[in-house]
Amino acid sequence: MNASDLLYARDMQAVAGIEKLRFFPLALQSGSGVWLVEEGGRKLLDLTSTWTAAGLGHGHPRITAAICRAAQAPAGAGGLSAVHRDSVGLAEELLALTPGTGERRVYLGHAGSDANDVVLRACRHATGRRRILAFRHGYHGGIGTAMRVSGVQIDAGVQADPDLYLARYPNVVHPHAGPDATPEAERDASLLEVERELARGDIACLMVEPILSDGGLIIPPVGFLAGLQALCRRYGVMLACDEVKVGLCRPGTMHAFEADHIVPDIVTFGKVLGGGLPLSAAVGPREILDGPPAAALLTTAGNPICTAAGREVLRVLVEEDMAARSKQAGERLIKALRQATQHMERVGNIRGQGLAIGLELLDGEGKPDRQLAQMVVYRAWELGVVLFYVGGHVLEITPPMTISECEIELAADTLYNAIRDSLSGVVNYDHVCRFSGW
Ligand SMILES: Cc1ncc(COP(=O)(O)O)c(C=O)c1O
Repeated sequence: MNASDLLYARDMQAVAGIEKLRFFPLALQSGSGVWLVEEGGRKLLDLTSTWTAAGLGHGHPRITAAICRAAQAPAGAGGLSAVHRDSVGLAEELLALTPGTGERRVYLGHAGSDANDVVLRACRHATGRRRILAFRHGYHGGIGTAMRVSGVQIDAGVQADPDLYLARYPNVVHPHAGPDATPEAERDASLLEVERELARGDIACLMVEPILSDGGLIIPPVGFLAGLQALCRRYGVMLACDEVKVGLCRPGTMHAFEADHIVPDIVTFGKVLGGGLPLSAAVGPREILDGPPAAALLTTAGNPICTAAGREVLRVLVEEDMAARSKQAGERLIKALRQATQHMERVGNIRGQGLAIGLELLDGEGKPDRQLAQMVVYRAWELGVVLFYVGGHVLEITPPMTISECEIELAADTLYNAIRDSLSGVVNYDHVCRFSGW
């Protein structure tokens, strides 16, 4: 057994399966920029950014320095019962970065899951209403209410929140209303469904992903988010935009919701915000997030090390104009992927917003092909590229925003090879099946 296999085998015996989502036996030793290093020394090009958490690359020198500085003289270990410069500073900076009106507050947490969970609970408390409106195949978290309103989790057997309504998220590539439906018709059908529910007057919060990520990297039609905002304002419902996965420059703008020029009532952040450390945030109205006191307590939330990292992440995003870099790199990567796969019938729609890119894999009849997606990500790993799939059959391509032109070309070439090899029977499906994926 080599070093990588050995470590993976030890993990199987020691770490709980309940927290695993595995596609191939990835056993890591270190990382640098867009590259990961396996136990044993093999280098892999990372097209996942660890599900976007390492959006500035692995071991970014400025973030590493900020973490080291904070760790050498930590101002306590959490924000429950004390304040320190970096927790207050991060909250102020997020307020300045996130459009909104009125008096607002920032919740600081550990993960996208707890930020969304707290938002949903706080909306219920503040409005006295119970019902939540979210979207089918959406993902908002792996714990509590955030998990029980997540379509992806419910599809996988999690019991839905009893006061949940899941509406249809418009899909312009495969319209629910049939292949001939226009994007406008697809959008309006979803908005009509949402309006019917909001009009009942008992929705505490509408939570939406600006790009449906784990549900298949689906980019909504123009006007969908704006339509949701208009409806929420008409019916007095809190609009919460979950920017955890794709927010903070990845979509080519600071916030993904900017594509539709909206100002949500509440915005949640996570993943890249911590630069690889556990950190999340929710920005929203004072009336929602200020009370009741002590209703969302996590001892180490707002801790000095994670908040120092978060502040440095925000500085890097702005100073290095990461939104423009993502936009440019995303366009280049989509072009390279389309060029590389243009003659492959089993490759369907390739779409993206900045560096949030999805590539569909289809069977011989043009239907979603999960088995092919499983094989392609496995083969890509064998060939030296890390990527995962979402929505059953869509390759999710979300590299660090620092990816270079050469790395983009390498990514497209390797994905082409991985798809070609998977179609020509090079991949042993029995090996692939050892990893359940999702
Ligand atoms: C849109 C969205 N919201 C929330 C979450 C939950 O974030 P975390 O896994 O950090 O708790 C995720 C995770 O994938 C996500 O994609």
